[in-house]
Amino acid sequence: MILVGIEDIDFATGSYVLDLRDLARDLGVEEDKYRLGLGQEMMSVPSCDEDIVTMGAAAAEKLLSRVDKNKIRTLLFATESGIDQSKAAGIYVHKLLNLNSSCRVVELKQACYGATAALQLAASYIKVHPQEKVLIIASDIARYEPRSSAEPTQGCAAVAFVVGNEPKLVALEEPSGIYTEDIMDFWRPNYRQEAFVDGKFSAKAYIHALRSCWIDIQNRFGLRFENFKRFCYHLPFTKMAVKAHHQLLQDHQLLEKEKRLLENLEPSFNYSRLVGNCYSASTYLGLLSLLENAPEDLKGEKLAIFSYGSGCVGELFTATVLEGYSLYLRKQEHRNLLLNRKKIDIEKYRQLLYAPVVKDGSRKEHPHETLGSFRFREIDQHKRLYEKCSPK
Ligand code: HMG
Repeated sequence: MILVGIEDIDFATGSYVLDLRDLARDLGVEEDKYRLGLGQEMMSVPSCDEDIVTMGAAAAEKLLSRVDKNKIRTLLFATESGIDQSKAAGIYVHKLLNLNSSCRVVELKQACYGATAALQLAASYIKVHPQEKVLIIASDIARYEPRSSAEPTQGCAAVAFVVGNEPKLVALEEPSGIYTEDIMDFWRPNYRQEAFVDGKFSAKAYIHALRSCWIDIQNRFGLRFENFKRFCYHLPFTKMAVKAHHQLLQDHQLLEKEKRLLENLEPSFNYSRLVGNCYSASTYLGLLSLLENAPEDLKGEKLAIFSYGSGCVGELFTATVLEGYSLYLRKQEHRNLLLNRKKIDIEKYRQLLYAPVVKDGSRKEHPHETLGSFRFREIDQHKRLYEKCSPK
């Protein structure tokens, strides 16, 4: 049997950061509501010259030093904050990274679930084409109505990973449970920048999808709770995972072990707590955080990973952490990336996140603000122009 899994993974985020205590003060909310109630401390904010393309390219750039570019014949770009109804954002990244012209590029969307669809498609593809690699980029900017109760659950980031038959980090296993249902818990019509969300319903829908996926995986593969050492969740806000896991523990009459089992989730929260929701990238930011921040060696641990995309599709899939995985991580770089973001105040954050979109074809040049190595330089005649730049 061919082993397929994640060979390398990295992430990028916005150059700015908003402390949620500032947002709480601005909205007249108690700070603890965000810190304890939602489990969030900060949110990344993109600079005016950053978007899903620049973050996606920055996340994928370092992966290229460890993989033969000629083997990347597929780039799957998952996003729900698409910049074009027709052209895949991945094509701009393909150019910025100077990938081979014999590499197919396509964009996938199903809310936060897109990257998991990409991973499953890539895994099947690699089984047929084991000599190739698939580059997956999940990149999103979460935007809700300003001053709404969803505002503290925004954020932005991109996670990029290489899928192939020489996995160094985690190997994918066959069992997976799936759940799809047509619901309106969260959606963003084409004419809107900000998503609509029925917040309380979305949290219930997330848990319902998780339980349904669990039933599916149990029925199809006969798996039991005890088969998994750890769970890793999609993280719209970290408390969501705590609630979801609490429900699973209750379903399995494991509440007496709850404290320890919930503590197990903590290392997967470190990055999301400081970045916020990054939609399609969020489950994988949680996975990366788990690998980099678990105090113990995770070698051989069986993971259950839950991906949820509103609307909705849920998938609970399984993976095993591989021996030597820690040699392939970039923990210190990631720590620095988060520490080096520039702190901004409420005024600047609102200006950036809710900047009006140029719709009339006029030219708008962006000042150089990003700390990253790619920038969205300008928009002119409805065309977006990107460039590689020296990191500031
Ligand atoms: P809200 O109405 O402001 O929250 O919205 P709340 O009043 O329910 O309070 C939240 C928690 O804070 C509660 O805890 C309060 O008790 C607690 P809970 O009862 O739930 O355990 N709290 C406090 N705790 C300590 N000290 C205090 C204090 N005050 C209150 N002083 C909501 C919260 C999440 C609904 C809102 O932020 C929202 O709508 N967010 C966006 C939707 C979302 O993230 N949904 C998650 C599931 S759907 C999903 O994951 C998909 C998604 O990623 C999109 C996609 O797929 O593309 C969103």
